[in-house]
Amino acid sequence: KRGHLSAYNVLFFADPIRAAMSQLEEQLRKRRTFAIISHPDAGKTTLTEKLLLFGGAIQMAGTVKGRKAARHATSDWMELEKQRGISVTSSVMQFPYGEAIVNLLDTPGHEDFSEDTYRTLTAVDSALMVIDVAKGVEDRTIKLMDVCRLRATPILTFVNKLDREGRDAIEILDEVEEVLKIQCAPVTWPIGMGKRFKGVYDLRSDKTHLFSAQHGGRVQSGEVIAGLDNPRLDELVGGQAEELRGELELVRGASHPLDLDAYRAGRQTPVFFGSAINNFGVRELLDAFVDYAPPPRPRETRQRVVEPGEERFTGFVFKIQANMDPAHRDRVAFLRVCSGTYTKGMKMRHARLGKTVQVANAITFQADERRHVEEAWPGDIIGLHNHGTIQIGDTFTEGEELKYEGIPYFAPELFRRVVLKDPLRTKALQKGVVQLSEEGATQVFRPLKNNDLILGAVGVLQFDVAAYRLKDEYGVEAIVEPVGVHTARWVVCDDDKLLARFKEKAYEHLALDGDDQLVYLAPTRVNLSLTEERWPEIRFLATREL
Ligand code: G4P
Repeated sequence: KRGHLSAYNVLFFADPIRAAMSQLEEQLRKRRTFAIISHPDAGKTTLTEKLLLFGGAIQMAGTVKGRKAARHATSDWMELEKQRGISVTSSVMQFPYGEAIVNLLDTPGHEDFSEDTYRTLTAVDSALMVIDVAKGVEDRTIKLMDVCRLRATPILTFVNKLDREGRDAIEILDEVEEVLKIQCAPVTWPIGMGKRFKGVYDLRSDKTHLFSAQHGGRVQSGEVIAGLDNPRLDELVGGQAEELRGELELVRGASHPLDLDAYRAGRQTPVFFGSAINNFGVRELLDAFVDYAPPPRPRETRQRVVEPGEERFTGFVFKIQANMDPAHRDRVAFLRVCSGTYTKGMKMRHARLGKTVQVANAITFQADERRHVEEAWPGDIIGLHNHGTIQIGDTFTEGEELKYEGIPYFAPELFRRVVLKDPLRTKALQKGVVQLSEEGATQVFRPLKNNDLILGAVGVLQFDVAAYRLKDEYGVEAIVEPVGVHTARWVVCDDDKLLARFKEKAYEHLALDGDDQLVYLAPTRVNLSLTEERWPEIRFLATREL
């Protein structure tokens, strides 16, 4: 079917360059796949909503938050996060903007679910960082930035809430440069803030957009003034026009000029100012985003680098989510398409199992609605129905033996033993904890010496969610209790004899994880360092890449 002269090619035959470009390349060129990173409360949800509004994916402001509330009301499982006032789940939203097709991958806001966020960041091509102008760079942002740095992910920055009193714009840029170790290149510049907030000046177009508070609407209605020296500017903002000119002189002298290569290499971040809730500065941001942000990039597999424009389909699973829809009670594996085309009904090879599966009913997510997808291109995310065979990190191909790398599992910092209230439910419990670990919700460890089940997590809320879900989804009443484990390390050793000796000596502290990998469960920090000293040829890893 592929390769024949499609209607598309005929249409553009007059233009030889476009005719030569295959449909795949054309689709690829349009794709922008990204996530928003921020500290809770900086305005991620608000900005997401405004982006969807501009993208035409929703009609009215308030819809994203409104839907969140509606979902809560219909889902038991969500009840828990509602009680906590946090968002555990995350989803994918696709919308067209101009020529581009934008995929926005949402991430959970709460720190206890940060692993989920880290994995989602492996599936994007760029990120958008939101900073609260009053608070500057906060903890979560620092951590997320570290994760982005691992893959040199390009980052745009939006400084939010300019309608409120905050810190000096120059001070914010200094802090970003210093703390996050990335160059800043301002693209827009604010005129005042809080009560004195008058608008932003666009350094690229030499135009000033005047601010008018507007919560709901789609368009930005304030006046646009061309030229920094335009007397109209003085007329409308008075003395603040001179202030702006002075500041800009300073900024131009002291900051870095925009350099798209540096941005795409993750060394520089273009910076925008605005107010998400007022829809102000959001359009400039989105325009620049589709302009600057990279389309899908080549990706490494264990075997070779895969180019997104390759004809054959490949992709990997970065997330598994249960009960997206309580009426279905299913689990969905989120797969990022890395090369080629997904077409409905195609056969894919599930690389880890070496099995070929036919995928007829992958789903896509357009602002929360489930739709069956006919085709998907590199950069897109498709949801595969999962009946327990798919794990995070799994690679799917059109036959080739490939394994995408770089999806991290972190050694948990918290451990609990799961104890059943009804001993007859052991089987259901085991099934439950193993499935939860495949989703990455919690990790499970089974000591070699006994039949305990030990859960590991990065944040304590993960245990509550696990206990809740065991009851809700698997009908298992279990409690989690403290256990004498301080930390875990994956054990790696190429020398089989040495490993056998180690296993014998350290038997007491060894366990298998959900994937049957050998793990050392250290009762104390001292015990871990002594063990590491005693066995220098053995590697004790704090992160495992899938
Ligand atoms: P998050 O997802 O990053 O956690 O932040 P979210 O968008 O929920 O925003 C956090 C709070 O900041 C919200 O107020 C939101 O309305 C407010 N906010 C977002 N953007 C702006 C802005 O540009 N200017 C101002 N002044 N406030 C902004 P809230 O009171 O917590 O929630 P709500 O009652 O408004 O929904």
